[in-house]
Amino acid sequence: MQAVDRVIRDQLHSDVVLIRQVAEYIIGGGGKRLRPALVLLSAGALGYRGNAHHTLAAVVEFIHTATLLHDDVVDESSLRRGRPTANTLFGNAASVLVGDFVYSRAFQMMVNVGDMRVLQVLADATNIIAEGEVLQLMNCRNADIDEESYLQVIRYKTAKLFEAAGRLGAILAGATPEVEQAMAVYGSHLGTAFQLIDDALDYSGEAGVIGKNIGDDLAEGKPTLPLIYAMRKGTAEEAALVRRAVSSGGLAELEGVLAAISSSGALDYTRRQAEAEAEAARVALSVIPATQYRDSLIQLASFAVTRSH
Ligand code: IPE
Ligand code: IPE
Ligand code: MG
Ligand code: MG
Repeated sequence: MQAVDRVIRDQLHSDVVLIRQVAEYIIGGGGKRLRPALVLLSAGALGYRGNAHHTLAAVVEFIHTATLLHDDVVDESSLRRGRPTANTLFGNAASVLVGDFVYSRAFQMMVNVGDMRVLQVLADATNIIAEGEVLQLMNCRNADIDEESYLQVIRYKTAKLFEAAGRLGAILAGATPEVEQAMAVYGSHLGTAFQLIDDALDYSGEAGVIGKNIGDDLAEGKPTLPLIYAMRKGTAEEAALVRRAVSSGGLAELEGVLAAISSSGALDYTRRQAEAEAEAARVALSVIPATQYRDSLIQLASFAVTRSH
C-alpha cells in the first residue's frame, strides 16, 4: 500500500496549480483505500509477482476519487473524509474539472500497463458507474422505487468498481476464467454490502466517525433501502411520512424519518441484507487457494458490514 501511495502521489503531478491543489486536497484526506487494497490482495492471492498491481491499484483509487469529486457536487455534500468537501472549498467548477483530470490520468496510467483486457474491464466499469449515478439521479424524490431498482443503482455506482478491482488482480496473475470470475463475484458482493452499510450509516452513523454529514441521502430525496423498507413495513402513518420526505427532499422531516426507520426495523433489515452479500462474497473465495491473502479478503468482507466509518 505504501508503493501504491507513491504511485498516487507521483501521478497527481500537473503544471496547473489548481489541479495540484484540489487533487492533493482530496487525496490528502486519506480515505480507507479499500479498492486498491482489493487489487493487491486479489493479485497476491493468485500468486502475481510483478509491479503492475501497484499501478492498477492507484488507477482504481483515482477512478474512485474522481467519482467522489463529482458525487459531492451532485449531492451538494459539504463534508468528506472529515473535512470540508472540495466543492465547498474550491467550488463546483473546480471539482468537476479536476475530477475529469483525475479520470483521464487514470486512463493514461492504465494504457501504460499495455493489456487490452485491463483496459476493457476499467472502461466498462467507469461507464457503468456513470450509468448508476444517472439512474440514481432519475430515482431521486421517487417514493415508488422498489428494492430491485435500488439494488441495480448500487451495483452500478459502487459494486462495479469493487468487481473490477477483484477481477484485475486475477487478470494480472493470469488466473483461469473460473478463478477470475470468482474474484469478480467476490468484489461485486463486497461492494454491494459496502454500499448497503453506507446507506444505513447515512441514518445511524456519527458524522465525526464517518467523516460525512448524516442525512445527506434524505436531503437529496434518495430512496435508499432504509427508506424503501420503512415505507413497505412501517405503519401507515410512518409510510406516509417517509413517502412525503422522499418526494419533497430536504431535512424538514428528518426526525420523523429516523423514528420510522428505527421502529420499522429498517436498519436491521438493511444490515441483514449487507451481511448476506458479505457471506456470498466469502463463499465466492472458496475456489482460490487458502493463503494469508485470502484470509484478508475474508476479513475485508466482515469489515464492510461491521464498519462504523
Ligand atoms: C465512499 O466510498 C463512496 C461509497 C461508495 C459509499 P468510501 O467509503 O470507500 O470512501 P473513502 O475512500 O474511504 O473516503
Ligand atoms: C457513492 O454514493 C458515490 C459513487 C459510488 C460514485 P454516495 O453518494 O452514497 O456516497 P457518499 O455517501 O457520498 O460517500
Ligand atoms: Mg454522495
Ligand atoms: Mg452515502
